[in-house]
Amino acid sequence: MQKLEEFIAANRSAFEQDLCDLLRIPSISTDRQYRGEVRKAAEWVADQFRSLDLETEIIETIGQPLVYAETPPVTGKPIALVYGHYDVQPPDPLDEWVSPPFEPTERNGNIYARGATDDKGQMLTHVKSVQSWIQSLGKLPIQVKFLIEGEEEVGSEGLYDYLESAAAVKKLNCDIVVISDTSQFARGRPAITYGLKGIAYFELLLTGPKQDLHSGVFGGAITNPANTLCKMLASLIDEKGRVQIPGFYDDVVPLSDRERAQFSDLPFSERSFMEQVGVDGVTGEAGYSTLERRWARPTFDINGMTSGYQGEGAKTVLPARASAKFSFRLVPKQDPTKVAEALREKLNELCPPGIVVELQEMHHAPGLVIPLDSPYMDAAARAIEKGFGHSPVFIREGGSIPIVNTFADKLHVDTLLLGWGLDDDNTHSPNEKFSLADYHRGIKASARLWQELSRIEPSA
Ligand code: BES
Ligand code: ZN
Repeated sequence: MQKLEEFIAANRSAFEQDLCDLLRIPSISTDRQYRGEVRKAAEWVADQFRSLDLETEIIETIGQPLVYAETPPVTGKPIALVYGHYDVQPPDPLDEWVSPPFEPTERNGNIYARGATDDKGQMLTHVKSVQSWIQSLGKLPIQVKFLIEGEEEVGSEGLYDYLESAAAVKKLNCDIVVISDTSQFARGRPAITYGLKGIAYFELLLTGPKQDLHSGVFGGAITNPANTLCKMLASLIDEKGRVQIPGFYDDVVPLSDRERAQFSDLPFSERSFMEQVGVDGVTGEAGYSTLERRWARPTFDINGMTSGYQGEGAKTVLPARASAKFSFRLVPKQDPTKVAEALREKLNELCPPGIVVELQEMHHAPGLVIPLDSPYMDAAARAIEKGFGHSPVFIREGGSIPIVNTFADKLHVDTLLLGWGLDDDNTHSPNEKFSLADYHRGIKASARLWQELSRIEPSA
């Protein structure tokens, strides 16, 4: 262990350089223009594995390529599958970045760049820990497989399709999945996440007259698609924060008293939460605390809206079209397809004369909770304690990692969500960052995890 720790300590700056190299690649999966860059990131990750002499493969999919690698098998020991993603969200609004999103810059012990925490930095901790084992001790105490994808931020379509094949399921055979793509509870309070929300994402397009019209000449007599869009979206949620789609809450698993008590025992300050995001008050579903709303209650958010004149000054126009992107975050047992059907029906009912509704279903995934009583959870908790100097708290989170459910269904294994990020890392926002101290603690915790997992007898 000492040799391993020394190696990790001696390579801090090399590990940081590698992270910066990956962060310089603008692998934005949602934008077709960046396809080449996405592939470059896949190649970069594959090269990391190749340089460690791991069996490495770039697997083509119907979408972006997967990077697969594995260390040699270790008989009688569990197999861990590390999943992560090398794609990132678009960096806009660009003018709000202090330093350019794809020029990683260090400030106050943090590295600032798109993808720093989500997920390049977090994912790389496992690559670096495996590198450290190999280069200091020669080999790992268990077999570690890597599956790093390039479409997580847009719904993982290529990976879903890949997992349909029996050969893929066989190749990915493992005892536990390990993912670092979530957050710690707070600075200095590492966490294991045992619940994530699901998602159902839509784009709604309303079409009215055949072209934009003079709003004085035609206004009041022609249905305005922008007005209609506002009305329709507003009617999807009431003033108590309850989603107004028939049947939406039918399958929601209520929070148990025990879980509510556990949440409220966590040292959460609403005041610092408000300060962090820069608001002077919070709202949400009536009867629930902020943590309950964020972690365990379904929500509705408009993600973007477009209609009419957006240029400088005023233009009196009645727009021909209006559209919105919006999504529901779901909790376990809610079925995204059922939500989509009920939504479609509701929007059709709400549609006034003079407007044509088109609803496009984008990606969706169900929510999940992971059982806490497993030897794998215990092993992860011990590894985190060694890497971070504190034992982890157990939390749920509001983000989604769509493929986790499929790992459970197809590979019949649980997932360890070991997040090294922080809530104020500006994920999906301007000035995304990752604490370099957490990067190094993550590498240490990951290195310890392989050892802790090697003490578990895998089930046959
Ligand atoms: N890393 C996030 C998910 C996350 C963030 C989980 C913070 C817990 C805490 C992930 O990369 C992500 O953003 N996923 C998308 C999935 C969606 C596009 C299907 C999300 O949650 O919006
Ligand atoms: Zn992520």
